[in-house]
Amino acid sequence: MRSSRLHLAFAAVVAARSSLSNCTNPAVRIEWSSLDSSEQIAYLDAERCLWDLPAETHLSNVTDRYTDPVAVHQSLTDYVHGDGVFLPWHRYFVHAHKTLLRKHCNYTGPIPT
Ligand SMILES: *[C@@H]1O[C@H](CO)[C@@H](O)[C@H](O)[C@H]1NC(C)=O
Ligand SMILES: *[C@@H]1O[C@H](CO)[C@@H](O)[C@H](O)[C@H]1NC(C)=O
Ligand SMILES: *[C@@H]1O[C@H](CO)[C@@H](O)[C@H](O)[C@H]1NC(C)=O
Repeated sequence: MRSSRLHLAFAAVVAARSSLSNCTNPAVRIEWSSLDSSEQIAYLDAERCLWDLPAETHLSNVTDRYTDPVAVHQSLTDYVHGDGVFLPWHRYFVHAHKTLLRKHCNYTGPIPT
């Protein structure tokens, strides 16, 4: 039941997406070892910045904004793994994490893979 609802939701997203114009400026993820050391440090500084910000969720064991998404992933693991939503959900999850870095830590660099 849950799985078929998720598949319907995904089909609706795909159908809606096909009526939109093509993506002209897709986000590009960069392999970690392709970043130079100043880019790697800037990325790690941004992740550390999240540690210093208060949590926004009230999930169990969350201590800061860095552990917010960790707990979200942990609480949804059974639903977003081993299912057709795996790829779109994790792409959205990476996007949400990037948004935290950009919005709260002013990070402007690439999101590494
Ligand atoms: C998107 O690009 C494809 C491939 O070039 C093309 O066939 C399609 O018509 C485009 N769709 C829109 C909505 O522009
Ligand atoms: C929270 O932390 C406690 C103590 O380490 C652990 O027993 C519990 O499983 C954790 N809860 C979650 C949801 O991870
Ligand atoms: C991000 O930039 C804003 C606006 O300049 C500033 O107020 C804020 O302190 C900066 N945050 C961090 C974590 O550097």
